[in-house]
Amino acid sequence: MALLEVKNVFKSYEREILHDLNFCVQKGEVIGIIGESGCGKSTLARILCHIEKPTHGDLLFENQKNITREIQMIFQNPIESFSPRMKIRQFLYEPYHYYEHLNKKEALPLIIKMLYQVGMDETCLDKYPHELSGGQLQRIAIARALIVKPTLLICDEITSSLDQIVQDDIVCLLKQFVQNKDTSILFISHDLSLVQQFCKRVIVLKDGKIIEKGTIQQLYKSENEVVQNLLKAAYLNG
Ligand SMILES: Nc1ncnc2c1ncn2[C@@H]1O[C@H](COP(=O)(O)OP(=O)(O)OP(=O)(O)O)[C@@H](O)[C@H]1O
Ligand SMILES: [Mg+2]
Repeated sequence: MALLEVKNVFKSYEREILHDLNFCVQKGEVIGIIGESGCGKSTLARILCHIEKPTHGDLLFENQKNITREIQMIFQNPIESFSPRMKIRQFLYEPYHYYEHLNKKEALPLIIKMLYQVGMDETCLDKYPHELSGGQLQRIAIARALIVKPTLLICDEITSSLDQIVQDDIVCLLKQFVQNKDTSILFISHDLSLVQQFCKRVIVLKDGKIIEKGTIQQLYKSENEVVQNLLKAAYLNG
């Protein structure tokens, strides 16, 4: 059985944004969603993690009971993951408190260990989000997601607001995470050269519709012009 099944999902605001989306995410699968700016990727991400409801259609998630824990999202703009008045210490303590019922003293060594895993250290703990850079915040957002241990992690363009060097570091970090086979990852990007580093299977969106889905090898056989342009851009980037 699939971890997540998306069935006939539509979303409209003033106009239709997503049109009849159907796909599955298997347990432990890393799947890419790709498409140009404005095609509806972030709208889909918000629907999948239940920030918004679809206008029509169903999301069947294996474990419906504990969805806020099981599905985590890392945002395009790192600051969106944070509350402006909450210190990093509290932000990283919360999942240990809520999900594992640890007190602050018990959680602290685990928090520090996790910070080192994402290339940070304990000096950030008493800072507020605005005192850190975008790359540092994105590392901390990843650390928090790792602490929660979701079954589905949605990464929405998580490197696109960062410098190239920081982007590469974050990609390395995520690759380590991908080796943890228990977590399914939905990796959203406009850049196929990035997506093909992680994902065997890719879904291509255009104007809110799925125009192609399959392995990277299958995409190479696609005659669709949009897919061919994505492949060309990936070749130039990679
Ligand atoms: N809350 C909203 N109300 C009205 N329109 C919206 C809303 N959110 C998104 N849209 C519209 O939906 C379309 C898709 O937006 P979305 O952010 O999902 O695209 P995207 O693929 O993530 O783009 P990008 O690559 O630039 O991040 C856009 O035309 C956008 O203006
Ligand atoms: Mg987006």
